[in-house]
Amino acid sequence: MSRLTVNERPVEFDMDPQTPLLWALRDAANLTGTKFGCGNGDCGACTVLVDGAALRACLITLAECEGRFVTTIEGLARDRAHPVQQALVAEQAIQCGFCTPGIVMAAAALLKGNANPSEAEIAAAIPNLCRCGVTPRLVRAISRAAR
Ligand code: FES
Repeated sequence: MSRLTVNERPVEFDMDPQTPLLWALRDAANLTGTKFGCGNGDCGACTVLVDGAALRACLITLAECEGRFVTTIEGLARDRAHPVQQALVAEQAIQCGFCTPGIVMAAAALLKGNANPSEAEIAAAIPNLCRCGVTPRLVRAISRAAR
């Protein structure tokens, strides 16, 4: 049994503690906003916040998350869209949308620690793979969210 706090709620996962967090979130907690892309830590589609840090959920196990605070895209904002989400819409920075949740989580973590990041810092913080080719618009949107 692994006990975590997910989106501000205590959750118990009756699964193998070596299960990647990604599968616990998607299959047991039904939080499917966190996406499976590569499963190798390369694409960033599975990015969530663990104790406020952006981490790839495919690379960390339930055991490593024991007692920690996990935030998924479903729990990032409550009453209204997060400023990063609003800026992505305003800058039309979404194409297929598959990688968007991971990018939003990475950007939210960046802006929490750096209120005025440079474009280089933004690009470095969102190495997520976007096959639609909207990375320049993503960077512009995250800059907008910082304003
Ligand atoms: Fe985790 Fe690609 S699915 S980084």
